[in-house]
Amino acid sequence: MNYRHHYHAGNFADVMKHILLVGLFRAMQKKPKGFLYLDTHAGRGRYDLAEAATGDSQARVPEWPQGIGRLGAAGEPVGPGLVAEYLGLVRACDRESGNLELAGRFYPGSPWLARRLQRPVDRLVFCERHAAEFAALRSEMAGSPGVALHAVDGYGKIRALLPPPERRALVLMDPPFEAPDEFAKITAALGEGLVRLPGGVFGVWYPLTVRARVEDFFSGVRALRPPATLACELVVAGEFSALKMRGCGLLVINPPWQFEQEAVAVLASLTSVMAQDAGAGSRVEWVVREQGLAESIISRSLN
Ligand SMILES: C[S@@+](CC[C@H](N)C(=O)[O-])C[C@H]1O[C@@H](n2cnc3c(N)ncnc32)[C@H](O)[C@@H]1O
Repeated sequence: MNYRHHYHAGNFADVMKHILLVGLFRAMQKKPKGFLYLDTHAGRGRYDLAEAATGDSQARVPEWPQGIGRLGAAGEPVGPGLVAEYLGLVRACDRESGNLELAGRFYPGSPWLARRLQRPVDRLVFCERHAAEFAALRSEMAGSPGVALHAVDGYGKIRALLPPPERRALVLMDPPFEAPDEFAKITAALGEGLVRLPGGVFGVWYPLTVRARVEDFFSGVRALRPPATLACELVVAGEFSALKMRGCGLLVINPPWQFEQEAVAVLASLTSVMAQDAGAGSRVEWVVREQGLAESIISRSLN
């Protein structure tokens, strides 16, 4: 396991994923009943962006300037209220981590955001398999009520924890895609999760490197016969770009009511800020349509 997320923290993929995660949390919290949030690949919880340019990552170009760097520099928050709420959380994380400079330094990971959004009735479970990342996560979450941490393979926790006593769950799968069979592992875990909690909300982050691999993944997901499933994609550069990761997506099974409209607005606003090359744009499409819907494309804007 060589992957360390701090090289990538705050990049365009984190920004997109975290804004949509805040949206999913808020949608789950429209009901007073608590839910389980299971983060199968949690990371360290919070990142020092200054580390991305120093220490053991000297050889790498930091990625955050093309992500939170651009969004933060855009002045007034662009797009829907969700973007402003996310930016407020990022700034709170930075301030509370001790940075008083105008330029941001600390960036929240999904566990930091989830803990900030958690209500007393919500339970958070974080899995992180890398020892050093887990140690950092443990110290970040020390003393937090309603939070459980596991230094294990997060996919296995889907089987162990679903269905939860609350009968409501939001599961985020955000693996590093180091292993060639990562999509297959995700599909198998989704299969387990859907059998155990068919009404659960499952979010899966994926990179857009080779389109055909993503389409194969969608076919595998369709074969599970899941309920409504939405793909939300941000493309920062077209197919002919030299960029390795040209974009990314969040697949959402059982998206909350009208989440697709929120995703369209978020992605449209991010496209203009994050575009790096010709062919940038966004797509929001049903991989499995909601019952009664004839059209699978909700929004597609690829330049
Ligand atoms: C993309 S990062 C997670 C970022 C985090 N979700 C966030 O948004 O801040 C993926 C993390 O998964 C960890 N990891 C890799 N394989 C894992 C596994 N099978 N189970 C749990 N964690 C794993 C890596 O060490 C890494 O910290």
